[in-house]
Amino acid sequence: MSLDSVTMKNAVNRWKAMNASLQALKSAGVEGIMMDLWWGLVERKVAGSYNWGGYGSVQIGGFLGGNWEMINKNQQNLLSKMATGNGHGENSPYFDGWKAFEDNPFHPTKNPHGVIQMGLAENQLSFDLVETWLMKNPEASICTPGGVNDFRDIAIFQDYHGLTKFRNAVANFMEKVRGNRVRFDPDRIVMSGGATGAHEMTVFCLADPGDAFLVPTPYYPGFDRDLRWRTGAQLVPVVCERSNDFKVTREALEAAYKSAQEANIRVKGLLITNPSNPLGTILDRETLRMVVSFINEKSIHLVCDEIYAATVFTQPGFISIAEIIQEKEIECNHDLIHIVYSLSKDLGFPGFRAGIVYSYNDAVVSCCRKMSSFGLVSSQTQHLIASMLSDDEFVNKFIAESANRLATRHKVFTTGLAKVGISCLQSNAGLFVWMDLHHLLKEQTFEAEMALWKVIIDEVKLNVSPGSSFHCSAPGWFRVCFANMDDQTMDVALTRIESFAVQNNETCTTVPMKRQCWQKPQNNLRLSFKSRRMDDIMMPQCLMSPHSPLAQSPLVRARN
Ligand SMILES: Cc1ncc(COP(=O)(O)O)c(C=O)c1O
Repeated sequence: MSLDSVTMKNAVNRWKAMNASLQALKSAGVEGIMMDLWWGLVERKVAGSYNWGGYGSVQIGGFLGGNWEMINKNQQNLLSKMATGNGHGENSPYFDGWKAFEDNPFHPTKNPHGVIQMGLAENQLSFDLVETWLMKNPEASICTPGGVNDFRDIAIFQDYHGLTKFRNAVANFMEKVRGNRVRFDPDRIVMSGGATGAHEMTVFCLADPGDAFLVPTPYYPGFDRDLRWRTGAQLVPVVCERSNDFKVTREALEAAYKSAQEANIRVKGLLITNPSNPLGTILDRETLRMVVSFINEKSIHLVCDEIYAATVFTQPGFISIAEIIQEKEIECNHDLIHIVYSLSKDLGFPGFRAGIVYSYNDAVVSCCRKMSSFGLVSSQTQHLIASMLSDDEFVNKFIAESANRLATRHKVFTTGLAKVGISCLQSNAGLFVWMDLHHLLKEQTFEAEMALWKVIIDEVKLNVSPGSSFHCSAPGWFRVCFANMDDQTMDVALTRIESFAVQNNETCTTVPMKRQCWQKPQNNLRLSFKSRRMDDIMMPQCLMSPHSPLAQSPLVRARN
């Protein structure tokens, strides 16, 4: 049944007609019907609080016959609200992209027509450097003959402060990435399970359920899960516009703050991601100063996600918030400043789950440290990373070489796109580009963006990520990851995009402008997705509850 079977007012749509058709189906021997739930209605007001209203009433036409209520009551009685809710956002249609890839993954010889994964912000370009180091330093791994002597000590280590040498090495690495212009105190480093765990831990320390964080858009979709799901906190978007390249402005911050106040929501902080995922841009000094003055005036926290710090590959260089707050002319209450970091992107180790919170606030450090028991980095991983990052020669070489390789890959990719008339937001960081396809949309709407996205997945066979999943304010943008594949796969991806664009350009010159290029019947780039899925995504964004799966869709296994 279509998603609009239940109206925005949570009532059954066209009750009489629906009842009659369901009765007809039932008498024809149909035993059941399938219906999608729109969580924006069911979980409209507060995450974890459900109003089954209209869906409960669709017990008409002889179907469901009370089972519906029984199922829900049973489930809710047996499990927690969190377990029966959709706070994780995994039921989102964006997982279609992942499913498409997983069902049919590209392989150069075994499956050359498979889907290429370009939705994964992984940094695989410099693994050979790490592998060479590992071969030269077998004692760093306690499971090798060279390292087994340390096995016992490391295996029993369980202090939630972490190995001193791990904290020293991470502080040292963070300083190097910031050009040694700032110092980090190893005693302020608290471990967590990746930046994912670090964000949640920070929110647990700074906010109570219902409190909010401002987040500039477009932003990493995982934030909807990491900051909100288990903490009960909310996110208030700071709407950044394409007209100024999605830069964060004072006006946008003030507007978001005001809208939260008008809705009686207590704002506890601002979360910025620098460099930005998905934009691949960095925040300049002026913007960072403005942000610091904004949060100080409002007396709210500033959480800076600097997970992509070492992915800056050309000038201007990266400026950490740590640099800004040490400027003499900046007035700043350091108790409000917190950095979230992990080795998932800069070193390309998302599997190691080596995340940290670095807070300038003693109470936050102390509270986070106690909480870190729930997400420690294993001592084996700490030991290995400590050895690797204490090797200055390796670190210096890795940082420089990784930036070079990212720069080259970025150039190859963006030049290839430019040749066929596709532009990207100018960027100098990250593992992705923010590709502008708004000229290929049938109309400038998010529905049209989703339709184009489905074509790119189903027909062009690339899993890229649509801008709406990053809460982008303008339709037609797509995040395309370029560092999670080898050169040959990148060539194939580029060739596919190029022929897609050429077909569209040809079509565009022969059909009236209004017509959507990729709908031309004779080319094979036609829509081929299930309408059921489209129902999910056809809802105008303005109608969506912040708790709807679309709003929080991670697309992403929510890690990237
Ligand atoms: C901006 C941002 N923050 C946090 C994360 C989560 O990183 P981790 O794998 O360390 O949990 C990601 C992952 O893509 C990210 O892009």
